[in-house]
Amino acid sequence: VIPKLYEAFSQSFDIGAAVNTRTIQTQKELLAYHYNSITPENEMKFESLHPSEDTYTFEHADEIASFAKAQGMKLRGHTLVWHNQTPDWLFRDSKDGTIEAETLLTRMKTHIDTVVKRYKDSIYAWDVVNEVIADEGTELLRHSKWLDIAGEGFIAKAFEYAHEADPKAVLFYNDYNESNPVKREKIYKLVKGLVDHGVPIHGVGLQAHWNITNPGLDDIRSAIERYASLGLQLQITEMDVSVFEHDDRRTDLTAPTERMKELQTERYEQFFKLFREYKQHISAVTFWGAADDYTWLDYFPVRSRKNWPLLFDEQQQPKEAFWRVIKG
Ligand code: XIL
Repeated sequence: VIPKLYEAFSQSFDIGAAVNTRTIQTQKELLAYHYNSITPENEMKFESLHPSEDTYTFEHADEIASFAKAQGMKLRGHTLVWHNQTPDWLFRDSKDGTIEAETLLTRMKTHIDTVVKRYKDSIYAWDVVNEVIADEGTELLRHSKWLDIAGEGFIAKAFEYAHEADPKAVLFYNDYNESNPVKREKIYKLVKGLVDHGVPIHGVGLQAHWNITNPGLDDIRSAIERYASLGLQLQITEMDVSVFEHDDRRTDLTAPTERMKELQTERYEQFFKLFREYKQHISAVTFWGAADDYTWLDYFPVRSRKNWPLLFDEQQQPKEAFWRVIKG
């Protein structure tokens, strides 16, 4: 029999997967067997839940919450404040003009309050603010409508509103390129500022969208240590290991090459060895998908190019990487 992935880590951290309303059907048995936590891939994003000011659409999110409950799985909420997948109405007035900071913050509060309260008996942790750090240059924060209209104060306020709505929820700041040394320090600076000001933030989410050569293990270790030094819990929130290196734009492969498979297996083994070393700090490792039959990387950064970034193959069978990871 195949060991259960989450049981192999029961002394260390939870094991999660991103799901959508389709994969809770097509991957139902796999999810139930190997994972003890799920995150909705898109269904709880702003545009999914709140497409116009007076309309909330909870059906798909509710379906995922019911699935988690029926399977006895934990549920992470993703995400309350982000620059993507956020509707335009939020930033405009009824005459299509620009709004004041106060209006945006009031709308943000209403959204957070409504959503967090609705799921407070099913969701234990939220990615409150997602990806606000700038990738390039010396500027700390990414340009966005949130920042342009409301100023940097929206970040602390989002955590305060989420905490008021559900004082028991574990609240995360979540970002990618989290182990790049420059971005790592920017994320550290943002989060440290929040902690120092008494903002209710409890964790740092490392998305971990990695590939077969990048980032290096030392950079990942440094990032984990740096964030852990803030005294917050860490979660790996969106892990996948692309078989394509960053500048590889090939679109002709119908299966991963031997080199891709070897490197991916080795990398997965190293990553989980590292995670186990820091199990005191890491409370969950969530993959951005459950098996290679469906991954968002089939559409990103190159449209309709198959990728194979997870621990289970297209037939939902364990890959060599799975066996290495659980051997630990
Ligand atoms: C992705 C989803 O997987 C896709 O289906 C969607 O088209 C775009 O968003 N960082 C995040 C996630 O925080 O919400 C993103 O999810 C992947 C990158």
